Amino acid sequence: MRGPLTARLRDLATPPVLIAFGGVLWMIALLAMVLVDANPEWEAHQSEYRKRLAAAADDAASVRHAGRFKVQVKQIDLPALERVDRCVSCHVGIEDPAFADAPQPIATHPGDLLTIHTPERFGCTICHGGNGRATSREDAHGLPEPSLNPMLRGEFLQGSCGKCHGDDEFVAGSRLEVGRRLFDHYGCRTCHRLYQSGNTAGPDLTKVGSKKFDAFFWGNDYRGTDRSVVYWLESHFKNPSAFYPSTMLNFKMTDENARALVVYMLSLTDERIPDRLQPSRGPTKP
Ligand code: HEC
Ligand code: HEC
Ligand code: HEC
Ligand code: HEC
Repeated sequence: MRGPLTARLRDLATPPVLIAFGGVLWMIALLAMVLVDANPEWEAHQSEYRKRLAAAADDAASVRHAGRFKVQVKQIDLPALERVDRCVSCHVGIEDPAFADAPQPIATHPGDLLTIHTPERFGCTICHGGNGRATSREDAHGLPEPSLNPMLRGEFLQGSCGKCHGDDEFVAGSRLEVGRRLFDHYGCRTCHRLYQSGNTAGPDLTKVGSKKFDAFFWGNDYRGTDRSVVYWLESHFKNPSAFYPSTMLNFKMTDENARALVVYMLSLTDERIPDRLQPSRGPTKP
């Protein structure tokens, strides 16, 4: 009498049977990949966009326009900024004023920022961050956090304005401007180098905005779930020894001031931005 089931299974595990079994697994995996690929997220968003275009078309020209719209991956090539942004594969209505009231992701961009920073020259990630090449929402938005390329949100989005803009009028009173002033006010250069000036008691901050979350030291006792760069910086400013004992001065900053400095730090990246994409008065780099 043969023993338990496991023994019988072991008898079955001959090479031909195993190979056949592996083959079946492969087929299932391939089929799953094809099915997922056949229904990409962007396709649904673009179909919705096209449907709305057609429904709103009330003259021959707009009917033709709607008819010509092709559902396909859309991308902006930005050789000058060394990137390719595909955000518009889902955010298809971003430049279309008729989509102001449409739901995300097909809505018009808020404000008039894109009339100045046109998508064909600037793309999206230079301001928003995220993964420009990605064609799924999670991946593009840098989710789940922490991500190597997180998307900047809310007030922290101003960090990217500071990559190109100096203290022009538009930053007056912004977090970015407050952060820049606080940097001088607290005398951060007593210990840090920024561009060509400052000291070396602490790390050089010239490119700190390009540092990824996993390059910051989180200490051995941190058990929290937020490991974003924004969180590290803010916690560190409010208490330099938040994660591990630090010799950095504790300025006992308010949340407001700490966040303004975070915005400023985020603007200090090593991204190369060609002169023709820089405003006439760029940030001062003494
Ligand atoms: C595969 C589709 C898809 C791609 C690609 C995509 N998005 Fe989105 N996006 C969405 C959807 C759906 C929403 C609305 C739901 C939500 O808020 O996540 C959205 C919302 C947003 C929002 C507002 C909500 C928020 O999370 O702040 C921003 C900003 C945004 N996207 C920026 C971008 C940028 C920048 C890129 C390119 C790096 C991008 N998206 C690429 C689908 C996409
Ligand atoms: C010059 C910088 C800049 C560029 C370039 C830019 N954005 Fe924005 N975007 C912003 C800012 C700032 C806001 C928030 C504006 C506001 O709330 O008034 C915003 C808002 C948004 C929102 C709405 C977020 C919400 O919560 O409702 C979406 C979606 C979005 N952008 C997607 C894009 C996409 C897609 C591109 C590329 C085609 C792009 N942006 C290019 C700066 C930019
Ligand atoms: C890649 C560089 C770049 C980034 C990033 C950028 N801008 Fe600009 N911005 C420009 C250029 C170039 C102009 C054109 C004006 C000029 O040449 O002085 C401009 C013009 C402007 C203007 C019009 C002001 C004027 O003097 O005409 C505003 C307002 C503005 N940007 C706001 C923003 C905001 C807000 C952000 C961040 C969300 C931002 N910009 C991010 C490059 C940039
Ligand atoms: C007394 C000297 C001192 C002063 C003043 C000081 N720092 Fe620091 N800072 C340090 C040292 C030392 C470190 C490295 C140890 C650590 O991570 O805390 C550091 C780390 C940092 C880091 C992390 C950099 C990285 O690459 O990990 C940032 C960002 C920073 N400081 C910003 C500031 C800002 C902004 C100010 C002004 C508000 C400031 N520091 C003032 C000494 C100082």
